[in-house]
Amino acid sequence: MLDVGGGQSFLVDRLLDARFEHVAVLDISQTAIEATKARLGERSSQVEWIVADITQRKSLGEFDVWHDRAVFHFITDPDDRKLYVELLKRSLPVGGHFVVGTFTKGGPEKCSGLTICQYDAATMQAELGPSFEPVKCSDYLHTTPTGKPQLFFFGIFRKAK
Ligand SMILES: C[S@@+](CC[C@H](N)C(=O)[O-])C[C@H]1O[C@@H](n2cnc3c(N)ncnc32)[C@H](O)[C@@H]1O
Repeated sequence: MLDVGGGQSFLVDRLLDARFEHVAVLDISQTAIEATKARLGERSSQVEWIVADITQRKSLGEFDVWHDRAVFHFITDPDDRKLYVELLKRSLPVGGHFVVGTFTKGGPEKCSGLTICQYDAATMQAELGPSFEPVKCSDYLHTTPTGKPQLFFFGIFRKAK
C-alpha cells in the first residue's frame, strides 16, 4: 500500500500494526518524512520512504492500494492531474484500489493559504476516466484538532481495466 502525501499522518503506524507487508510513504517534504521516520523509530525500516513530487515521478513500482488524503485537491494544474492519474494507472494492477479524500463543495476553498480544487463522485470519476469504477463514495465531515469542521469527499475506486 502506498500513502501519497502521507506527511506526518499516523496511517503508516496503523498499517504496520495491521501487518501490511509492503508499505510505502511518499511526500514532497523531506522534513515530514524525517519526522514520521523518527516517530516510528526502529519500525521505520519496514517502510519504503519516497521523497518526491507525485506529479514528477515516472514510476513507483506496483501497489494494491494507493491512498491519498488531501493531496490531489492541491493539484490545480490539469496537466499535472493528468500526470498523476497516468502514474496511478501504471502503479495499480487491475483490481487495485484508489482511496482518495479531498475537500468537496461546501468545504474549504483553500488550505494552508493554497488554492485547492473541490471534488465529488462525478468530478473525481471524470478525472480518473473509464479505467476506474466507483466502489464507494461519500462525504465526510472532518473536525480539525482545533475544532474546525471541514467537509471532505472520500472515494474508493477500483481499477477495472
Ligand atoms: C494536507 S497534508 C495531508 C497529510 C496526510 N495525508 C494527512 O491526511 O494527514 C498534504 C501533504 O501532501 C504533501 N504534498 C503536497 N503536494 C505534494 C506533491 N505534489 N507530491 C507529494 N506530496 C505532496 C505535503 O507535503 C503534505 O504532507
